[in-house]
Amino acid sequence: MSDANVAAREREGYRLYSSKFVLGTYNLHTVWFNTRFVWRCSSERMLERYRSFTGARHLDIGPGTGWYLERTPLPEPGAEVTLFDLNRDVLATSSRVLRDRGWTVHEHVGSVLEPFDGLGPFDSVAANFVFHCVPGGWDTKYVTFESVARALTDDGVFFGSTIPSIGVTHSVAGRVNQWLYQKVTKTFHNEADDVEGLREGLEKYFADVDVRVEGGVALFEARRPRRG
Ligand SMILES: C[S@@+](CC[C@H](N)C(=O)[O-])C[C@H]1O[C@@H](n2cnc3c(N)ncnc32)[C@H](O)[C@@H]1O
Repeated sequence: MSDANVAAREREGYRLYSSKFVLGTYNLHTVWFNTRFVWRCSSERMLERYRSFTGARHLDIGPGTGWYLERTPLPEPGAEVTLFDLNRDVLATSSRVLRDRGWTVHEHVGSVLEPFDGLGPFDSVAANFVFHCVPGGWDTKYVTFESVARALTDDGVFFGSTIPSIGVTHSVAGRVNQWLYQKVTKTFHNEADDVEGLREGLEKYFADVDVRVEGGVALFEARRPRRG
């Protein structure tokens, strides 16, 4: 795929979140309804992971509305979060919400497909429901794992979730929605994403990896970054 083509497909993965309607109803249709009934994974479970893993210097890749961090107690007063997204409307929305909750917020406009040297160090990094929006196969998306491994402290944790199309069992509702998001809204780019590829990529950059499937979702945790 040419660079222009990748950029165009990448835009498809985030531009929808500039719609006031989509961002305004995201917590209801995605966090509450789709996660539970379409992808069959509970948002409470994802929230538990945010609450367990989020450290005092946290990087959130693709924060959306910031729903999970909004409900995560501050790890310490003045804790810092860096919000990383290609969509400025997403950054504006999630920043506002998290500043109100007491976080010290930094914003970074960037693509996960570009190495992000210079950010960090972070105690925790999350990428929740992000990789299925990013074009290319895992070999393209691994660049994010490499950047995260460099930006994480030695005892930090990288965690999140994604919706692969291979290696999970999608319900009928899941298959219909996946088709809709791949072919109509074009927000999903997960055609080649499999659970094993996710695990292999994480194991390349982290010594301690856990990937588990819940419904149509792969949940991951990775520790002990391998650098150099
Ligand atoms: C489905 S939303 C997930 C929001 C939130 N993390 C959650 O779990 O509810 C995907 C997020 O990833 C961002 N995103 C999509 N493609 C991206 C890319 N190539 N680089 C950076 N951010 C991207 C979108 O703008 C959006 O904020």
